[in-house]
Amino acid sequence: MSTNTVKKIACIGAGYVGGPSMAVIALQCPNIEVVVLDINEERIKAWNSDKLPIYEPGLEEVVFAARGRNLFFSTDTTKHLGEADVIFVSVNTPTKMSGIGAGRAADLTYWEGAARMIAAVSKSSKIVVEKSTVPVKTAEAIAKVLTRNCVDPNVKFEILSNPEFLAEGTAISDLTKPDRVLIGGQETPTGRAALEKLKWVYAHWVPDNRILMTNLWSAELAKLTANAMLAQRISSVNAISALCEATGADVSQVSYAIGMDSRIGPKFLQASVGFGGSCFQKDILNLCYVCESVGLKEVSDYWYTVVAMNDYQKQRFVERVISGMFNTVAGKRIAIFGFAFKKDTGDTRETPAIDVCRGLLADGAKCAVYDPQVAPIQMFRDLSAPKYAWDRPHGWTKSENHIMESVQAVSDPYSCAAGSHAICVLTEWDEFKGLDYAKMYDSMVKPAFVFDGRNILDHDALRKIGFVVYALGKPLDPFLVRG
Ligand SMILES: NC(=O)c1ccc[n+]([C@@H]2O[C@H](COP(=O)([O-])OP(=O)(O)OC[C@H]3O[C@@H](n4cnc5c(N)ncnc54)[C@H](O)[C@@H]3O)[C@@H](O)[C@H]2O)c1
Repeated sequence: MSTNTVKKIACIGAGYVGGPSMAVIALQCPNIEVVVLDINEERIKAWNSDKLPIYEPGLEEVVFAARGRNLFFSTDTTKHLGEADVIFVSVNTPTKMSGIGAGRAADLTYWEGAARMIAAVSKSSKIVVEKSTVPVKTAEAIAKVLTRNCVDPNVKFEILSNPEFLAEGTAISDLTKPDRVLIGGQETPTGRAALEKLKWVYAHWVPDNRILMTNLWSAELAKLTANAMLAQRISSVNAISALCEATGADVSQVSYAIGMDSRIGPKFLQASVGFGGSCFQKDILNLCYVCESVGLKEVSDYWYTVVAMNDYQKQRFVERVISGMFNTVAGKRIAIFGFAFKKDTGDTRETPAIDVCRGLLADGAKCAVYDPQVAPIQMFRDLSAPKYAWDRPHGWTKSENHIMESVQAVSDPYSCAAGSHAICVLTEWDEFKGLDYAKMYDSMVKPAFVFDGRNILDHDALRKIGFVVYALGKPLDPFLVRG
């Protein structure tokens, strides 16, 4: 038998990363027992039910195939962490809300809590794998927490960094056919042995040339940099979308032309109302904070502009809606199509819809929101929670009354549009493309507007129906040109 054999894997954190990534490991490695743990009992209950706690295409098939065979979801951390030889930590690492580095630094409270839990129950040596996205050099701090809190001096901990590159909405295919798996470890004999063990797990389905092994700090920094570069592309094209509107150029044509350049490539060049999701903003802010901490203010300022441009884009969209509708949306019903931060997920963390709805509500609009995957309670929570509070399990208390009065969650797009002055498309759900807009037009207040924040609709067809159309980054309808 290979010395690399791993018998049992435990993962702390049954979220968007922990759940799908461990399910795929379990499916691909039937001889390894995989247990996903969480302090959130509801979440674990849902993972053990027919209705999984997150929506992700293909996830049910993977979970239902492996669950009960070698994949388990549990809250019994003591038992499973004690028995595991490899422990992934995939807890949330939100932006700090208060104290030093508030609004930028990563809050490592959950990570440290997980490390203390591991130390408390470990009676044998463990490989601890950072799956969460963490600041550079977190492994060093975690190693100290682990060794100082473990009572048995014979127990050794080897820390690896194995950042996750999956994208929500395509998580299962990303995990099944990853562009690369990155594993960072200490450049010591025990560090190299741990790297080999984890590599052995992934080698069950990932080709050898796609498993990259680096030192710990490179792996940690590569994850932050990957997200910063992806977000930077979106902010770059969004900046150009504003210039397109001012000059009469068409951002889709510009994107297509530059994407044909093999040095640039076509991906992540679609102009939109802004990027969202739990990672991009948080990880860039975190990168900025790391840069500042080591005295690199110019580098920090450089990356911060990516976030600033994203905020500008959301604000710009709100201003377009308001100015297009005769400079007032007070009392007007606006249909919001899509609340999730992208299609094929129900995740709303940092979704641009939050800032857009808040901007419209601040000007007195009434928002009717339709999203095929987001529960009404989630919309109300998001619209009333303070900034950065969303990524904390108990960070939200109750919806504010004025939000409840001005926001209506609607279960179908036609009732959502009925009686509205405008439709704002904020998520690129495929189903929005095939709706009967003529039927909606008949039920709306005139002039009826469509503000397409994702450029997914057939704008000419909408104009023929009678809509005034704003398409982001495209030549403006004469109706929308400011006098
Ligand atoms: N969501 C993504 O697309 C994505 C992609 C790549 C990397 N990441 C990173 O992965 C990490 C996790 O992200 P996520 O989206 O899965 O977060 P999540 O909030 O969905 O899941 C984290 C889970 O950890 C649990 N948790 C926190 N502390 C715990 C503890 N001490 N013991 C047990 N459970 C605990 C929480 O209850 C929660 O269910 C973050 O660092 C994130 O930046 C996320």
